Amino acid sequence: MPAEKPNAEIILEPEETLDPGDWEEFRRLGHRMLDETIDYLATRREEPVWQPMPDSVRESFHKGLPMEPIGMEAAYTEFVERIRPYPNGNNHPRFWGWVQGTGTPLGMMADMLAGAMNPHMAGFNQAPALVEKQVLEWLTELMGMPRETSGVLVSGGTIANLIGLAVARHAKAGFQIREHGLQGYRGPRLVFYASAETHGWCQKAAELLGLGNSAFRRVRTQHGYRMDVAALRTLIESDRRETMRPFCVVGNAGTINTGAIDDLQAIAKVCREERLWFHVDGAFGALARLSPKLRVLVEGIEEADSLAFDLHKWMYLPFEVGCVLVRDAAAHRDAFAQEQSYLKGMDRGVIAGGLLFADRGIELTRSFRALKVWMSLKAHGVKAFAKLVEQNVAQGRYLAGLVESRADLELMAEVGLNVVCFRYRPAHGAEDILNDINRELLMRLQESGIAVISGTMLEGKFALRAAITNHRSKREDFQVLVDAVVKIGERVRADSRKGSSSKSKELGMPGSS
Ligand SMILES: Cc1ncc(COP(=O)(O)O)c(C=O)c1O
Repeated sequence: MPAEKPNAEIILEPEETLDPGDWEEFRRLGHRMLDETIDYLATRREEPVWQPMPDSVRESFHKGLPMEPIGMEAAYTEFVERIRPYPNGNNHPRFWGWVQGTGTPLGMMADMLAGAMNPHMAGFNQAPALVEKQVLEWLTELMGMPRETSGVLVSGGTIANLIGLAVARHAKAGFQIREHGLQGYRGPRLVFYASAETHGWCQKAAELLGLGNSAFRRVRTQHGYRMDVAALRTLIESDRRETMRPFCVVGNAGTINTGAIDDLQAIAKVCREERLWFHVDGAFGALARLSPKLRVLVEGIEEADSLAFDLHKWMYLPFEVGCVLVRDAAAHRDAFAQEQSYLKGMDRGVIAGGLLFADRGIELTRSFRALKVWMSLKAHGVKAFAKLVEQNVAQGRYLAGLVESRADLELMAEVGLNVVCFRYRPAHGAEDILNDINRELLMRLQESGIAVISGTMLEGKFALRAAITNHRSKREDFQVLVDAVVKIGERVRADSRKGSSSKSKELGMPGSS
């Protein structure tokens, strides 16, 4: 029996839309949002870098799905009261934690303009696609790579590096890896190399690309946390003897922990001789190329087969925008391009010229992140960014000098670029409690709202770590940091000395039980 059709009675109600009913009212609210946002940015320095959230605020985020509308103005008010005051703080002049950029006022406006246009950036026959193309050409020139270089803007360094490694895997696997994958593959094990100081993206990429974490061969570092290139050669040789198939070496232009820069020229040479793909993770360090004075530090970057870097770190642009450049455009395309009938190019119209960017990575729907890069480079010019990068490097050296001038602070790694690792080390402070003291110090410093830095381990020692990718910092901010570290350090030490005091118990320090 044929199924009965549902009663398809057409009800002619007024159509819904998410556009405002009254554009003038929306304009007033929009102007207010913008005005208050500009005030917020202009006074950010006067606020704490970070502040803990009251329980009531934290709990307010557990409420259920809102079925009924509260309206735009009420939603905005909630944002102002419960969200904006509690960020992680990276837009503040005294934030130097992990490696996070600050954002810029123009970048924020560009994101708004891009959001209003909301173009679909798979490619298409549209000006926004040409903007991204032009940005990629500019970045190629900046990085000293050949004009024919291909590239794509992505959400950040992790994805940019993943794409670089995926192209390397495809180009060097020696079989149709896109067709067959690694399941059931009986050939030699594919392996690649990077220093043990390489950022966590590398393990993620190895796992995601089906290579497995053990295919990421961690090369030991030598003085200054740079890859030991002789050890790299030895490892490649022994892996080949074990019938593995090396396909890529990753060089670091600025490691996450200390900002160390590998000898990129030496790694490029190894890659040429061994016929391996040369990928560089220059997440922040690559931006040293902006400055003619600092460029020499990252020499060899221009020899990369693929290069990943972020514009949301050391070019300060709002999240998210990273870039991967690939020297061999055909290899880039071959690693990702598909033929799908619904996306086939036509002679004229919106899809004329074919898809550009969707064939260069994983994402199909992509945002117009290129606009903030394009507008910022035009508005400020490369020279302004070069000066800021130089300024941050000088600030790093200044901070290192302040640390070295004090007997109770210890510099823990060479400052090659913009990352300063140090610790509070009072006279007679026994090595075994220094890690606990510095950990507690770091938490108290962050809670104080004075400055935010982060921590890492260097050869078993806990280090306080300032990564300076901040265009708002002034020289005196670093004196504020050092004064706060010493003052808080003294208090932590005094608490730890109380032996059985509750604070000491909290710290888990020896003698506190
Ligand atoms: C050296 C390095 N590589 C890669 C990344 C990952 O970049 P993203 O956080 O933009 O994904 C970072 C992040 O700090 C980094 O410092």
